Amino acid sequence: MSKLNQLLSLAELSPATLNDLLNLALNVKQQPEKYTRALAGKSIALIFEKPSLRTRVSFDVGIYKLGGHSVYLDQQNGAMGKRETVADFGRNLACWTDAIVARVFSQQTLEQLAQASHKPVINALSDLYHPCQALADLLALKERFGDLSKVHLAYVGDGNNVCHSLMIGAALSGMKMTVVTPQGFSPDAQVLLNVQKIALDTGAVLELSPHLSAAAGADAIYTDTWLSMGDKADPELIERVFKPYQINTAVMQRLAVKYFMHCLPAHREHEVTSEVLDSEASLVLLQAENRMHAQNAVLISLFA
Ligand code: CP
Ligand code: NVA
Repeated sequence: MSKLNQLLSLAELSPATLNDLLNLALNVKQQPEKYTRALAGKSIALIFEKPSLRTRVSFDVGIYKLGGHSVYLDQQNGAMGKRETVADFGRNLACWTDAIVARVFSQQTLEQLAQASHKPVINALSDLYHPCQALADLLALKERFGDLSKVHLAYVGDGNNVCHSLMIGAALSGMKMTVVTPQGFSPDAQVLLNVQKIALDTGAVLELSPHLSAAAGADAIYTDTWLSMGDKADPELIERVFKPYQINTAVMQRLAVKYFMHCLPAHREHEVTSEVLDSEASLVLLQAENRMHAQNAVLISLFA
């Protein structure tokens, strides 16, 4: 298993490292007793500039299960750049902790933290990426389909942080991915370029379309909130633009898609109906459960 130094975007992983990491996550899930001392003596700071349920609890509980200790800094104490600069925050944390997990408004904050602290930094969601989520999602797909290079994933909705990390993960795994976004809400151009570069090496296929019909025949359809945390767009305008992209039973049937995926929290009857979210086709709780196993694999390989 190759050693990780940090997890800022997922693009720092090679296809082989990602594959190793997913295999390790599967092993951690199946044989947790093998890893109960993996983080013995290690302390990890969990900094959250934004709200969280899944990420916060899965890191906290996951670190405990690996024999480590976590220190949670909430939106008041973890508001970097307010009482002191991000760099000073990072330098101080490095005096006591072995790694930093951070959910931040700006990707730049993670880079500044990593540089100042010289400690491994894990991105727990930023404006640009959500790599821990993508790892859990890939693990869920691996459990359902085995060989990821044979999977066709469709993402429908806003070209946001979750979409970016999924595109990177899909490209590294040699998957086919169709990204359906309304005009003006496409993924970031720089991220796209990077994903296309990775895909050239792995044989992954990336399709972009404003038409929901492009998702037809996918193995799984994935959606996320239409308005991410920190996004200042007008909610009424967003609702109007995105309404035709709602995932409901009729859409699932028309597109002949087997599984539904969502990072959660879901906005019921907006991007997805309760009927689909709570259906047999929904993988959302498997994805949520896998957050912990995937993150624990990341933590284990940081200190391997
Ligand atoms: N999916 C996810 O990151 O959930 P939280 O915002 O609750 O952490
Ligand atoms: N795109 C969403 C994901 C939440 C887990 C957000 O950034 O708010």
